[in-house]
Amino acid sequence: MMKFFSLPSLFFLLAIQATVAQDVKINKRVDSLMKLMTLEEKVGQLNQYSGSVVTGPVNDAKTNMLNDIKQGKVGSMLNVRGVKDTREIQAVALQSRLKIPLLFSLDVIHGYKTIFPVPLAEAASWDLDAIKSAAHIAAKEAAASGIHWTFAPMVDVGRDPRWGRVMEGAGEDTYLGSKIATARVKGFQGEQLGGLDAIMACAKHFAAYGAAIAGRDYNAVDLSNQQLWETYLPPFKAAADAGVATFMNSFNTINGIPATGNSYLQRNILKGKWNFGGFVVSDWGSIAEMVPWGFAENQKDAALKAITAGSDMDMESLAYKNNLVKLVNEGAVPIALVDDALKRILYQKFLLGLFDDPYKFSNLAREKKVMADVKHPQIAREVAEKSIVLLKNNGQLLPLTRDTKNIVVIGPLAHSRKDMEGGWIVASDTTKVTSLYEGLVAKAGKNVKFTYVEGCGINGMSTAGFASAVAAAKSADLVIMALGESAEMTGEAKSRTDIHLPGVQEDLFVAVKATGKPVVSVLMAGRPMIFNKVADQSDAIVYAWLLGEQAGHAIANVLYGDYNPSGKLPSTFPRSVGQIPLSYQTYNTGRPVTDPKDIRYKSGYIDELNSPRYAFGYGLSYTTFNYTNLKSSATTITLTPESTVQLSFTLTNTGKYAGAEVVQLYIRDLVSSVVRPVKELKDFQKVMLKAGESTTITFTIDKDKLSYFNQDLHWVAEPGAFSLMIGSASDDIRLSATLNLTQ
Ligand code: BGC
Repeated sequence: MMKFFSLPSLFFLLAIQATVAQDVKINKRVDSLMKLMTLEEKVGQLNQYSGSVVTGPVNDAKTNMLNDIKQGKVGSMLNVRGVKDTREIQAVALQSRLKIPLLFSLDVIHGYKTIFPVPLAEAASWDLDAIKSAAHIAAKEAAASGIHWTFAPMVDVGRDPRWGRVMEGAGEDTYLGSKIATARVKGFQGEQLGGLDAIMACAKHFAAYGAAIAGRDYNAVDLSNQQLWETYLPPFKAAADAGVATFMNSFNTINGIPATGNSYLQRNILKGKWNFGGFVVSDWGSIAEMVPWGFAENQKDAALKAITAGSDMDMESLAYKNNLVKLVNEGAVPIALVDDALKRILYQKFLLGLFDDPYKFSNLAREKKVMADVKHPQIAREVAEKSIVLLKNNGQLLPLTRDTKNIVVIGPLAHSRKDMEGGWIVASDTTKVTSLYEGLVAKAGKNVKFTYVEGCGINGMSTAGFASAVAAAKSADLVIMALGESAEMTGEAKSRTDIHLPGVQEDLFVAVKATGKPVVSVLMAGRPMIFNKVADQSDAIVYAWLLGEQAGHAIANVLYGDYNPSGKLPSTFPRSVGQIPLSYQTYNTGRPVTDPKDIRYKSGYIDELNSPRYAFGYGLSYTTFNYTNLKSSATTITLTPESTVQLSFTLTNTGKYAGAEVVQLYIRDLVSSVVRPVKELKDFQKVMLKAGESTTITFTIDKDKLSYFNQDLHWVAEPGAFSLMIGSASDDIRLSATLNLTQ
């Protein structure tokens, strides 16, 4: 009988056929190349060196890098960029016996030349298309500049704001983090690897690096398997499902086993259960670091343990280069392990098209053209606007009007360009960055007078500048205070024990506020900070993170109402360091606090509330939204994979401004064989509504949304009652219903 296919499914089938054919072809080419390779050359492909940019402790053992490349002892370089440099070094690789091209990799974390908001800030947009387009522009620029591979996205769930690297991730939530992981991988890798606008992405740091004890970087992780599977692994799985080409392992141990030497993670889960076909690169020096950890006796032992556990490429520790040949010759490492790692790496080089044209991504004319694309800064500005979170707006002080004619901008971040860029900056032009002060002046026009006073340093203890700040505030109609962290205060090796506003900034705020003038606080940082006095006393607060090169314009657009803020916090903001780690995904306990004034024999603190300062998912708008008319298509759902329930409601913009709301669906399994958190985000939608407009929103509940990893680590949905909660934030539930799951 003849079968008929719809047009889309026909295209889909043809695309699958083409991919399979390409796969067969590449595998043949890989196999025939491997037959020509000596063991030394094979091991060479597993070795990665760093160039001149330094992103880790430099390895002095690398004596003659260019000579090693010429001899085929290097498969990839990180930290080399730009058409000129990548061409020069590629030319050296092409002098090797088999002329195998190098892979050039770089930490393109939130933009290449065009600098976007730091990743945590972008996560606050909850706008997956915007996040994807930011990654895609970064990929386009990097790919035009000789780069084949970025070490991004970082998909580590981060629930400890002391950890400096929360800045590089998507916040505390597994579901939101998984969606953002997918968006970023698709953005970096474009339609297809091999295209001139696509670079390989890298899901890092596998795994659970975000759970480093006490938020201290490079520290050990002690985690139940349950937490590993339900909280930390899903964003990695999402990246793998999205077709990410590479993974990077991590510096931490997990329950005593370094991730780099962890067969359970890399062989059983990643390459086994998830069938990941790409390759795994170590983190910087992490193979050799298994020696100081006390897991390997020496570098040779470390190389043996890493290759056995499935680490395919050695970043900068030279442990493979110096030991793998010997280990194979002595019979300690089966050649099949080297061949498997090699095959994975060569496959990607063929897929990118480097054997057909090793200079494919190093083209001066294209580099110039792509870098000059005026759409890129425009999109960076839009993404920055979407990332801003409005935390407070007493008396609708914001948006500002031009009737406020005399404004003083005070604070160490008020006129900073460099700090707006955040960390991991590789090819930006800081002179193109707009400070907040510059953005405001450009926005408001000639009739508004702005004065800038620094007031104090970011981190220093001097109060010498307070008097002039207070004097300027007294003579102004309104004060905008720009407070926070420098770009240098978050990122790798930037953990803090105290996440209050640094230095004397909060004292400056108090002194200025004492003038009685209205104060709008603009807080900038790569992490959630603690700023209780600012939170209590400011008239309005905007959390502006580190927004990239367009920071000043984006914040000015929000303050003047040209963009109505729509960001929501991707992380919980604690009241006190002692509450950390703090997540909305908390447990009810057997003794929940029902009245914060009475915590006797309850699960609370005698000196602090349990609740956060600002909850996950929180963020205001210049307009207001009503949630009404909840309807459920059923009150019971059965355990079949096809069975679904539709939960719909009416969302109305009840204010004066057009605006976007992120509506959030949380679920709690009320009684289960493993205790579940009081709320878990299971879906969300970002919806734009004109003033007065209403729309119907529908969430579909299926078995998957009701499932979790049980004690045997099986993904199960257990019969019983579930609470379904729809809200504007994790602590602002507007509608709820109960659903019963039956066999
Ligand atoms: C970081 C990675 C980064 C690598 C290369 C390491 O220290 O942990 O995230 O990709 O350096 O710069």
